[in-house]
Amino acid sequence: MTNNYSKAEKATMYFIGVTTGKSSIMKVFPEWAKYLGIYAEIKGFDFMWHDDPARYMEAVNFIKNDPLSMGALVTTHKLDLLDACRNEFEGLGPYANELHEISSISKRGNELWGHAKDPITVGLSFEAIVKDGYWNGSGAEMLILGAGGSSLALVTYLIDRAKAGRDLPSKIIVNNRSEKRLNELKNHAAKMVAEAGIEGMNIEYNLCPTAADNDAAVAKLKEGSLVVNATGLGKDGPGSPLTDNVVFPEKGLVWEFNYRGDLVFLEQANAQKESKSLTVVDGWFYFIHGWTRVIAEVFHKDIPTEGPVFDELCKIAARAGAPAKKAG
Ligand SMILES: NC(=O)c1ccc[n+]([C@@H]2O[C@H](COP(=O)([O-])OP(=O)(O)OC[C@H]3O[C@@H](n4cnc5c(N)ncnc54)[C@H](OP(=O)(O)O)[C@@H]3O)[C@@H](O)[C@H]2O)c1
Repeated sequence: MTNNYSKAEKATMYFIGVTTGKSSIMKVFPEWAKYLGIYAEIKGFDFMWHDDPARYMEAVNFIKNDPLSMGALVTTHKLDLLDACRNEFEGLGPYANELHEISSISKRGNELWGHAKDPITVGLSFEAIVKDGYWNGSGAEMLILGAGGSSLALVTYLIDRAKAGRDLPSKIIVNNRSEKRLNELKNHAAKMVAEAGIEGMNIEYNLCPTAADNDAAVAKLKEGSLVVNATGLGKDGPGSPLTDNVVFPEKGLVWEFNYRGDLVFLEQANAQKESKSLTVVDGWFYFIHGWTRVIAEVFHKDIPTEGPVFDELCKIAARAGAPAKKAG
């Protein structure tokens, strides 16, 4: 993979990922930029999974030193990039040190800044699905399938929510197919809970190597519980973390983190939507919040997270991004 680091001729934001050209953002960004009055373009930089640190350094140095290169959104390489380039950043925003990652690169005058936006953007997406007070007295639980970066962001958000004294699921359950990341998440969450001095936050961690194990965990959930697919299965790998025999909880909420791919998990939920009165949501709002928070940081633009301007951004994204969304 060779990236083109030629001097930007107009304000440019970069997307640092793996197959950036396939993302809907390539079609959505120009339309959003027009609407927001940002005179800029977007370009992708592709890297291999766990690429050579020198390649991350090359990209970050290019952005840092090229005047019209304004910043970047980072996916997949969030930990590796910060690890390789930490000394290039004059400032790191909230969560970056705690989570050892950045998803946003921006400039403040001559300073290069990195931010970890995921706990914020996953939280905004969560709040779009689950209204304030939903968990109060309901007994409903939350099952997160997967213990990767976005599950960690979601658990971080939930710990912040507990710190703020807001309503929470009666139990948060995290299932992962292998032990390493499950333990990492567990240790991380325990440290955050202890530092925040929170008592009585009920988080359970289960090693679940098979889809049948995950089915059993779903079957035990109480009415109104939320099931989240944060495994990437359906997009990053084939299939679903559940089997077709899964039984979702009555009046449950089902959230697939992705919006493109062969989303079998979403199909499994939709098959029970009527019979179980489910609310089924894909990752489209997560995509929109993820991008708009980083665009706001990169272009120093106040972009609301709800209301008429946000609604218009959603409509523009649906119009511009729809073909790629359907094509997966
Ligand atoms: N819509 C959006 O804008 C948006 C934003 C953020 C993330 N996402 C999507 O969310 C997905 C997850 O992202 P991520 O960054 O958290 O990925 P990640 O770091 O790769 O983590 C995925 C986790 O799921 C686990 N897993 C895989 N198969 C499983 C199974 N059958 N049962 C239980 N656990 C399983 C993996 O286990 P191991 O530990 O064994 O590998 C890993 O811990 C990705 O597809 C990403 O594209 C979408």
